[in-house]
Amino acid sequence: MSKLAADHGAINLSQGFPDFEVSPELIALVDNAMKQGHNQYAPMAGLPWLRQVISKMTADRYGYQPNAETEITVTSGATEALFGSIMALLHPGEEVILFDPSYDSYDPVIRLAGGIPVHLNLTYPDFRIDWQQVRDTISGKTRLIIINTPHNPTGSTLPEEDMIVLQGLAEEHNLLVISDEVYEHIIFDEKTHQSVLKFEAMRKRSVAISSFGKTFHATGWKVGYLVASEALTAEIRKIHQFVTFSVSTPVQHALGQYLQHKKNYDSLARFYEQKRDSFLALLEEADWRPLVSSGTYFQLLSYDGMNDKGDQEMAEYLTRKYGLASIPISVFYHDNTDHKLLRFCFAKQEETLIKAAEILCRIRI
Ligand SMILES: Cc1ncc(COP(=O)(O)O)c(C=O)c1O
Repeated sequence: MSKLAADHGAINLSQGFPDFEVSPELIALVDNAMKQGHNQYAPMAGLPWLRQVISKMTADRYGYQPNAETEITVTSGATEALFGSIMALLHPGEEVILFDPSYDSYDPVIRLAGGIPVHLNLTYPDFRIDWQQVRDTISGKTRLIIINTPHNPTGSTLPEEDMIVLQGLAEEHNLLVISDEVYEHIIFDEKTHQSVLKFEAMRKRSVAISSFGKTFHATGWKVGYLVASEALTAEIRKIHQFVTFSVSTPVQHALGQYLQHKKNYDSLARFYEQKRDSFLALLEEADWRPLVSSGTYFQLLSYDGMNDKGDQEMAEYLTRKYGLASIPISVFYHDNTDHKLLRFCFAKQEETLIKAAEILCRIRI
């Protein structure tokens, strides 16, 4: 869709990246780190003092202080953390339960590891997990469950009660959990992010995955990290060592300093909540129906009742005819879906959102 958007000079609300700049303070920190000579390989698991800072931040946010030496690994974005975790923890022939719509990297990595992806659909239109369906699906071969909260592409978030159910099931069936938490700082409406790390029994059998790209508007820097028990970390690092070895040293130095100021990540939820609210306010008169987005920087809009086009056709039509690019939700499903939903990224400057909303308001039933 980004290519189609570029070909048609369209406003691009398709791919999930901000169109505003990284904080000048953070850029200056990277610049300083380079000038101070921090330009050679970092230790394989990440700079020790950055891991200390992550450890303290985790304790502050989730009430659990991971061991910086043995339980935290800095990775080349969340993508590498997901890849390494699935590769390390899954044996050929084992099953992984994942929930559609799902982020696109999970399924292919499960297959690469020789595993069997078992796709379940989140309920519509609130995109919750149907736990009875999960219970019915768990088999002797199930090894892993992958969750993602706040959730791309729907913006739904898992509440505490769901995490408690998940913890019970994971314990009962001896399952591992991979928790993709890249939008952990972007959660709205006074909700609190429910990290797997908050739950004592669950964190022993979980990998929590974070991304600095999402948190600091720097998706192109590709730095993230994972937190997992010492035993799981030891296995995952065996993959990390030969996939990437170590991650950009000056960027790690800069992030370590920047992370020490809580305001640099604590202000993010409010920042994006305001963007969501102003985008929705601009759409008040439109025929598009917004679904609830309580986290991430994505908003689903339904065009149900407006026309009969499938979502891929609708997304292309909107780009070609009106110059506005989005993502059809069906690409996040393994099986066919006929939801009439497009995903719009609102991590954009106000003027971009105003132009996008003007277009959406022009398309009437
Ligand atoms: C749910 C989810 N997981 C993982 C990633 C990948 O994050 P990173 O850019 O840090 O590799 C993304 C990026 O869009 C995402 O939306």
